[in-house]
Amino acid sequence: MKIKSINFDKIIDRKNTDSVKYDGLQSYFGVADVKPLWVADMDFAIPTCVQKALKQKLKQQIFGYEIPSNSTFEAIINWQKRNDLSLQKEDILICSGVVPSLKVAVEAFSDIGDEIIVFPPVYFPFFSVIKESNRELIESNLVLKEGKYEIDFEDFNSKITPKTKILLICSPHNPVGRVWSKEELTKLDEICKKHNILVVSDEIHSDLVFSKFTSFASINKASLILNAPSKTFNVAGFNTSYAFSFDEVILEKFKQKAKQNHITSLNSISNALLQSCYSHDAQVWLSELLKYLQSNIKFTEKYFAKNYPEIKVIKSEATYLLWLNFKDIKLKHKKIKEILLNRAKVALNDGVSFGSNGKYFFRLNVALPKKELKLALKNILKSFHKLQN
Ligand SMILES: Cc1ncc(COP(=O)(O)O)c(C=O)c1O
Repeated sequence: MKIKSINFDKIIDRKNTDSVKYDGLQSYFGVADVKPLWVADMDFAIPTCVQKALKQKLKQQIFGYEIPSNSTFEAIINWQKRNDLSLQKEDILICSGVVPSLKVAVEAFSDIGDEIIVFPPVYFPFFSVIKESNRELIESNLVLKEGKYEIDFEDFNSKITPKTKILLICSPHNPVGRVWSKEELTKLDEICKKHNILVVSDEIHSDLVFSKFTSFASINKASLILNAPSKTFNVAGFNTSYAFSFDEVILEKFKQKAKQNHITSLNSISNALLQSCYSHDAQVWLSELLKYLQSNIKFTEKYFAKNYPEIKVIKSEATYLLWLNFKDIKLKHKKIKEILLNRAKVALNDGVSFGSNGKYFFRLNVALPKKELKLALKNILKSFHKLQN
């Protein structure tokens, strides 16, 4: 059934709106006349119910400091039931963002010089929040097996020392699109429990999944989960997120550090935003969004498989971010980057920013109207074809 108010084909001009994705091209890429297929936000209008809630909020006229309302906690509690979690208000802390919360978690649960493990290629702030806190960044690279990324449990085990305090996981995993299975998470949990390592799970992409998602909180109650409606409903600029834990001591420790770092004060739309995003109407929008994203992903996979199989699309189980493997093109990484930007006129995220094993890879954002996606893919194809012919 097509819902009248939802039209993901609509092209919305985002230029000159101070958007990082569009108006930040010149400063990030050194060129402005390219199609931005990078930053993780979508070129789709937000759900009508969220638009209405924001308009309603504007009528208030005065925007002083706000406290989290009971309805906001209820909305989060209800939403997380989708993941078979029974949260209580006391288990949740509203925060300004997932990245600030990652930094606070690092500071709350480790000391200077302690070791923290991550699984590259991974969302790049996972590196910076560790390094900037003067903790030791320990990388256990994911391995690519038959077109799918897996955790190298043996390598992970071998990297653990008495100084290892935290495992930061990205679940689902940006940029490789994995939804970690219950079995994989259980295996991780067993290892972490044995060595007294806290798992901090960034679950910001957990609504954008094409297979069953398992929250780490359902594997081990003594973990810290970070989430937000921002990726799901395209409201990243509002800086509203939340952390939760079923373990009172863990949440309290996180809360104290979060307060010290001033990341717990709400902005004026946080309550209205969270409630409208986690509503029934928004859920209907989300199911339509997932269909559209899947169709864009399938289109991209088929397009390259048919026209240029040297560019391999890593099978995606989540998100609108596709991880493209250019290794078979047999060109230098720098050259591939140059062709994408200057000939194909598309701005993709450089794979190397997600870790050294991101060499020859680029991240493609497919959350845009299909017509525009087709044009961008055609331009990529043409530029690489020309090179060979
Ligand atoms: C895995 C992951 N975590 C966190 C964020 C950003 O979170 P926030 O904007 O709440 O800081 C992103 C944005 O792309 C992301 O992909």
